[in-house]
Amino acid sequence: MKTVLLVYKSNSGLTKKYAEWIQEELNCTTIELKDAHISEITKYDIIIFGGGMHANKINGIKFIKNNLERFRNNHLIIFATGATPASAVEEVKKFEQANIPCGHSIPFFYFQSGMNYKDMRIIDKIIMNCFNFVLRLKKDKNSVEQGTMEAISNSYDNSNQIVIKPLIHYVRQLSE
Ligand SMILES: Cc1cc2nc3c(=O)[nH]c(=O)nc-3n(C[C@H](O)[C@H](O)[C@H](O)COP(=O)(O)O)c2cc1C
Repeated sequence: MKTVLLVYKSNSGLTKKYAEWIQEELNCTTIELKDAHISEITKYDIIIFGGGMHANKINGIKFIKNNLERFRNNHLIIFATGATPASAVEEVKKFEQANIPCGHSIPFFYFQSGMNYKDMRIIDKIIMNCFNFVLRLKKDKNSVEQGTMEAISNSYDNSNQIVIKPLIHYVRQLSE
């Protein structure tokens, strides 16, 4: 059996929710990125990293990118959570291209979550309020701008445990 570690970064709790669902299914060791020490985590065969989308970047992805060479003997898997619906295939493809280092075939999974203003950091609340304000003022909004404005106006949670299935299946196949 291969050893599996899940490392995640979550600012408002939505990625944490997915991390807990994944942990439940895989029964794997799970830690927050702030507690991850590279020499410790590379002892695991399979490392799953997850973070929320923040302005098209996966929260915490820098840690992965900065240590890529150290992960050369591990199976690395990355997942992201975001407000963008998973059905927005082009957008999700862009997330992958912008975050997954070229030339490294790292499997990427995307899970829709939502917005959680209640537990959001103040700085993020300010950013989202400014963004929302600018969109609201804009005349002749296109459908993407209109959709984005509606998507960020209030808290909501479209997280769904079912959507982690492909990731779980992938890890189970690797572990066999
Ligand atoms: C400042 C900020 C920027 C965001 N940028 C994006 C984005 O570019 N794309 C997206 O789909 N969702 C975006 N979101 C929504 C978050 O990705 C989503 O709420 C995520 O699940 C948060 O995860 P966390 O609570 O674990 O940090 C953004 C949220 C905030 C607060």
